[in-house]
Amino acid sequence: MKVLVATEKPFSAKAVEGIRQRIENAGHEFALLEKYSSPDQLRQAVADADALIVRSDIVDEVLFKSAPNLKIVVRAGAGYDNIDLKAATAAGAIVENTPGQNANAVAELVIGLAIMAARNKYSGATGFEISGKRLGLQAFGQVSRHVAAIAKGFGMNVSAIDPYCPTEVLKEKGVTPADSIEDLYRNNDIVSIHIPATPETVGSIGRNLISLMPKGAVLINTARKEVINEDDLLQVLEERTDLKYFADVKPSNADVLNQRFADRVFFTPKKSGAQTAEANLNAGLAAADQIVAFFRDGTDRFRVN
Ligand code: 3PG
Repeated sequence: MKVLVATEKPFSAKAVEGIRQRIENAGHEFALLEKYSSPDQLRQAVADADALIVRSDIVDEVLFKSAPNLKIVVRAGAGYDNIDLKAATAAGAIVENTPGQNANAVAELVIGLAIMAARNKYSGATGFEISGKRLGLQAFGQVSRHVAAIAKGFGMNVSAIDPYCPTEVLKEKGVTPADSIEDLYRNNDIVSIHIPATPETVGSIGRNLISLMPKGAVLINTARKEVINEDDLLQVLEERTDLKYFADVKPSNADVLNQRFADRVFFTPKKSGAQTAEANLNAGLAAADQIVAFFRDGTDRFRVN
């Protein structure tokens, strides 16, 4: 079977080598496409592939149509909003992710962004300590659980809300369940977003929530830019000169936000949460193992379609 690793944002060389070895040791053919500059290049590369490993690369209906042999796509990471699941199913391909494999990397970035915001982007202006402050986590999946553990080490008071996670799980982790999403935003000095981009969540965080945040609060987004209502964000930042927005996912209106609120916003130039040697290795090798297992005996434990 031919396994293509196609990553516009490449894995570390060590991760690529590890993936190659696992694929070849299992008797499959390995192919690599990195830093490609057009969807066409990806379509050409995948034309005769049986399996595909991607990161945030767009895998749409056109791509499935260009890859008649494709049987499995593994998103080496958590969020699979970049993959058209309906088109995959229609094409007879299964889609998997590698949950948890890059969670610690993203969680460390959340704490990094929290400190960067608390210290006014290291400008020298008097900031605040995160110890003793209230941290609210919107959703309590793998990334949030790592964030909670690290934040508690810093002496933060952590609360969370997640309709899909039983409150017992939160309590076991020493996290206080918030009564409502509004309360989460109202009662925390720092709120960190960890929801996926779905039809229900896109544009769901706007004035309705951001304007509830207490004085001097920080909103951190390492999830997806699409979950924010960007017009509302702009307006609320205009009205509330005390609020900050720090994100790993550059909003579409990043230039305007940077111009108007330089001291109060920060965006990574490229999504960096999972961009560590460790996360590349964990997610990349897991993806390779999942493909090998699927071709060996049909194992599809992490299937999402
Ligand atoms: C994820 O969903 O796993 C993260 O957003 C990481 O995405 P990336 O692999 O494109 O860095």
